[in-house]
Amino acid sequence: MSGPLPDSAEVFGRHFVDHTATGAEEVIAEELRARGLVALGGLTTRGAVLDLARRLMTITAHRDSDPDGLTALRPSPRRAGGAGCAGFGSGEMAVHTEGSSMPRPPRLMLLTCARPAISGGECVLVDGREAYAHLSECDAHAAASIARPRTAFFGSGDGHLGQVITVTGSRRVRIRMRQDDLVRFSPLIQPYLEHWKTALDIHRHVLRLGTGQGYLLDNHRWLHGRYTFTGPRQCWRALGEPAFALPDGFEARHDIAAELTAGGRR
Ligand SMILES: [Fe+2]
Repeated sequence: MSGPLPDSAEVFGRHFVDHTATGAEEVIAEELRARGLVALGGLTTRGAVLDLARRLMTITAHRDSDPDGLTALRPSPRRAGGAGCAGFGSGEMAVHTEGSSMPRPPRLMLLTCARPAISGGECVLVDGREAYAHLSECDAHAAASIARPRTAFFGSGDGHLGQVITVTGSRRVRIRMRQDDLVRFSPLIQPYLEHWKTALDIHRHVLRLGTGQGYLLDNHRWLHGRYTFTGPRQCWRALGEPAFALPDGFEARHDIAAELTAGGRR
């Protein structure tokens, strides 16, 4: 997949927080509430990543995590072939919600670069708030359709029946999305998926992370993915629930309730 040039400097310029500064936890919490994403640096050891993760979240164990809760994401031919194990390959991963087939995907995801790829391997991030606002402006019916309840099944047999956009309150929503073969969409929303994927594409940011750089995101708002790569690229990942107040969902840029009412009339 060809993509736009990396805009790492712009993303880091807008979202960077020095996690070693006094009061960093509160700054990070505020950034997550407001913008859903924090860019980080200086996390060059596993211990540093774990330390920061423990300051910010209650780490959730994952099928692939080590006993301390961190997952080492690196090419592993033994693991890469399994369902939902693309993280252990070196191919492209379309932007998605982490843990989308779980009843409740983890709220936070921290990902840092332990060793960059030789070529490729850039991280792709999409602010779902911007992409959904874009879809709403271009095609309000499509935006209402992907919020219809029970129109997407995420995962395999024991997966989750839900929808891409879940309304959590007045003007507040959360996003759940994946684009591999572990999701099935209802025929009711099929006609609108291309518009949605186009909106995701338009709003992607491409990050080329150096050693020790990373990001922390609100997994109910931002989608993440990766470009294909060569070399022994390795990342550390922590998933978990915030150790600070983070209201359910995020504030949409438009009145979703009105949109759903209008969409339902068609
Ligand atoms: Fe992922």
